[in-house]
Amino acid sequence: RASSSESRGALIVLEGLDRSGKTSQSSRLLSYLEGLGHSTELWRFPDRNTSVGQMISAYLSNKSHLDDRTIHLLFSANRWEKRSLMETQLKNGTTLIIDRYSYSGVAFSSAKGLDIEWCKAPEVGLLAPDIVLYLDIPPEKAAERGGYGGERYEQLEFQRKVAKCYQAQCDSSWKIIDACQPIEDIEKQLQDAGGPSPIFGLVDLWS
Ligand code: TMP
Repeated sequence: RASSSESRGALIVLEGLDRSGKTSQSSRLLSYLEGLGHSTELWRFPDRNTSVGQMISAYLSNKSHLDDRTIHLLFSANRWEKRSLMETQLKNGTTLIIDRYSYSGVAFSSAKGLDIEWCKAPEVGLLAPDIVLYLDIPPEKAAERGGYGGERYEQLEFQRKVAKCYQAQCDSSWKIIDACQPIEDIEKQLQDAGGPSPIFGLVDLWS
């Protein structure tokens, strides 16, 4: 344990397939928590602003080609380079809402056929979230939503595999939310589930 839980912020992770609504729901949750007077920040991974993030961005837009394990480790490094800031903010009492985290890393890479334990290994020692909010959408429904934006992984067949790889990681810390409901209903369920009430001190993934 790295800190007492008393004054720290919560680490809230949103996960889901591409086009599951994570990004707009993350913003809504941010406004809600800010409205309650909580110091809150919205982060996302990949963080495309860092130099590692720019390599990832080039890969995702098919401007570069990288070996599957290489890109996996870059996604992981992109989280590691933010770990100490993450810990500082949480200890300062700021709640962090994170749009994608290690579970995306493991789901998308194991969907390519990489061994799941190999995929998890570089994530060990990153901070474990207090809650994972999974926006659950059938891959077919996600594909219908205004079309995919043309990035590397936005293909139905691949997203079907990713959905299975998410399921393989789901445990009791996950809250599964039906992402086919009206936007306001989803928003309400996230508010009910995602309030900043960390019970434990900070712990590492996957402990
Ligand atoms: P984004 O659309 O949320 O910015 O994510 C970009 C893509 O990168 C998305 O298809 C999911 C994928 N991804 C990984 O493959 N590994 C990771 O570790 C993360 C965070 C995202």
